[in-house]
Amino acid sequence: MATTIAFPRSLDVTSTAGFCHKLSALPTGQYAIDFAEFTNAPPFGMLLAASAVRVFVARMGVAGFTVQALRYENKSYQAHMGFFQACGLNHGKQPGQASGSRTYIPLTKLDVDLGASIAHIHDTVNRRATQLARLLLPGGRRDAHARLHYCLFEIMRNVFEHSRSPTLWYGAQAWPTKGLVEVAILDEGVGIRRNLEKKYGVASDAAAVQKAIEEGVSGATLKDDPFGFGPQSGVDSDAEDDRESAHNSGYGLYVVSQMCRSGGEFALASGDTCLVCSSAGQDLRSSAHKGVAVRAALRIEGESVEQLIQRVATKKFGETPSTRPRPMLDPL
Ligand SMILES: Nc1ncnc2c1ncn2[C@@H]1O[C@H](COP(=O)(O)OP(=O)(O)OP(=O)(O)O)[C@@H](O)[C@H]1O
Ligand SMILES: [Mg+2]
Repeated sequence: MATTIAFPRSLDVTSTAGFCHKLSALPTGQYAIDFAEFTNAPPFGMLLAASAVRVFVARMGVAGFTVQALRYENKSYQAHMGFFQACGLNHGKQPGQASGSRTYIPLTKLDVDLGASIAHIHDTVNRRATQLARLLLPGGRRDAHARLHYCLFEIMRNVFEHSRSPTLWYGAQAWPTKGLVEVAILDEGVGIRRNLEKKYGVASDAAAVQKAIEEGVSGATLKDDPFGFGPQSGVDSDAEDDRESAHNSGYGLYVVSQMCRSGGEFALASGDTCLVCSSAGQDLRSSAHKGVAVRAALRIEGESVEQLIQRVATKKFGETPSTRPRPMLDPL
């Protein structure tokens, strides 16, 4: 007899984190997931919940059990977004199949060759970030486009620079009349804590996610990390030298989270914790995700990327530095 798990009605950050935590704590056995109540499906929630379902189904499978899906057939929006296929259920569109529009980007996978040069990886990520920003903000102002591009580029390149996973998932939703856009990016790599524990002595996922959004916090580099992109991974030495030019300075997540704090919301899930921050402050929720998932919900109009970086740099160095922490790579 299968135990039925009620899928959440809303995949807002809190409910999704709670659902992931709940699935991870369930003992092995025969289960059915009931999607009947599932209504609100924002991209971050869909990416994180689909990943949790995949992991849960695999865990049950290893123990010789199956997981059934119930009452998912009339969830047409979620099916169109590729959610059920992302869960491993053969229903609806494949991830990346729907064409996307100025109001949504379906759940989509992006793979890169981790053996390629950092310049090549940056180019791939930059092109994808530009394409997505254009789709979500057609004819948008240059500043607005640059804000969105910055978030996409920084979060996506983090996956290929830090997660050891060659695959990321993304999705997005925009509310043009409200002036809001949400992008979500997820990987199933090593997670934040693993990268920060040695250098910063963080002893928990909660400490790691909070540390990661501080300015100037950057984890182990290639040379310090033999289990990363080093020789064991089969990366050739030219590509390895090239990676040194990534010049991680620990500003990506800081700037993105600052941008979201004014009028939007930022979430960072890794390990057993999901950090949420907005203008109201910062909060931690129990969650479960082996890699990293980021939600950047931001106002389309706001402080320009240049102004923000200038402000950060001035605060940090007391004067305008000759090189900005992050080059703008977005050729409009
Ligand atoms: N997807 C990820 N997987 C694993 N660790 C991550 C991931 N994203 C970020 N991190 C960790 O969080 C740290 C902070 O990220 P952040 O983007 O702020 O800085 P950075 O990438 O090191 O430098 P910069 O973005 O300025 O080039 C990273 O150095 C890395 O250790
Ligand atoms: Mg970064």
